[in-house]
Amino acid sequence: MRNKVTVVGAGNVGATTAQRIADAELADVVMIDIIDSIPQGKGLDMLEACPVSGSDVKVVGTNDYRDTEASDIVVITAGLPRKEGMSRDDLLKKNYEIVKSVTEQTIEKSPNAILIVVSNPLDAMVQTAFKVSHFPKNRVMGMAGVLDSARMRSFISMELNVSVDNVHAFVLGGHGDAMVPLPRYSTVAGIPLPDLMSENVIEQIVERTRKGGGEIVSYLKTGSAYYAPSAAILEMVDAILKDKKKILPCAAYLEGEYGINGLYMGVPAKLGSSGVEEVIEIHLSADERAALQKSAASVQELVGVIGV
Ligand SMILES: NC(=O)c1ccc[n+]([C@@H]2O[C@H](COP(=O)([O-])OP(=O)(O)OC[C@H]3O[C@@H](n4cnc5c(N)ncnc54)[C@H](O)[C@@H]3O)[C@@H](O)[C@H]2O)c1
Repeated sequence: MRNKVTVVGAGNVGATTAQRIADAELADVVMIDIIDSIPQGKGLDMLEACPVSGSDVKVVGTNDYRDTEASDIVVITAGLPRKEGMSRDDLLKKNYEIVKSVTEQTIEKSPNAILIVVSNPLDAMVQTAFKVSHFPKNRVMGMAGVLDSARMRSFISMELNVSVDNVHAFVLGGHGDAMVPLPRYSTVAGIPLPDLMSENVIEQIVERTRKGGGEIVSYLKTGSAYYAPSAAILEMVDAILKDKKKILPCAAYLEGEYGINGLYMGVPAKLGSSGVEEVIEIHLSADERAALQKSAASVQELVGVIGV
């Protein structure tokens, strides 16, 4: 039997994610949105691409949670973008309501699913899905680190003119300006970054990575990134469905690891068929630890506003 993945939200990130999963013949895909008829149209369009890509999967767009029944993975991308006059807290509360409601509806139909939350502000939204679902922590995670590391890998590869395959990058912490890229754990063909680049160039890459999301928004003006985000989601879905035991940076629930308790935070995690199977703890310098604590404090502040 084929696996089944539901993508909640048929906007830019949701639709490109659905398309990537269908193209990779990873699972049957259900795309659900509150907007009538758009998911149906996008779903049918993707289904009609399958004969050309040679992919034997079903793709369905819907507004009805009954179609999502018995999903193995649910990817939550539903949310609102910030509108003029809306404060960060207004957006936070609005997206909290959305993520809360879609979590309740999806878990009713798929009580054994693994949830991958993508909606922003990421760390607070994944904490919402965790608290609302009452799922065990291994079955609720957030996507951000794979994307942030992919951006850093791109910049390193561009700077050194080497294959992206050779480049590994390491980013910890919450998604946002307080993320903590770790150059000393970032490597090119196994060689640590500080052995290959000056401190100044590394700092520029780190800064560009931190502001990577904003850089795309400044070009698109009316939307945010979705090609790299959906590629990052696909890597997580692939690792789980194929039980790869792949270590990827993702938002995982911490209970004492890295000195953080009761909070979702971006850390290296082993992904397999049970979801987050292990949080990998690495040694941090005093500066890195302080940066991670600062990042945790900003997530804690958001979580406090919505009370999850
Ligand atoms: N974690 C990350 O790294 C990352 C990266 C990119 C985007 N994002 C976030 O992902 C979210 C989606 O981004 P996007 O570019 O696809 O936005 P988008 O506006 O294109 O799509 C969002 C979709 O959610 C739908 N939606 C709203 N309320 C809903 C509900 N109650 N039920 C079902 N669907 C609902 C909307 O109708 C819309 O189609 C945003 O919150 C964005 O900030 C996160």
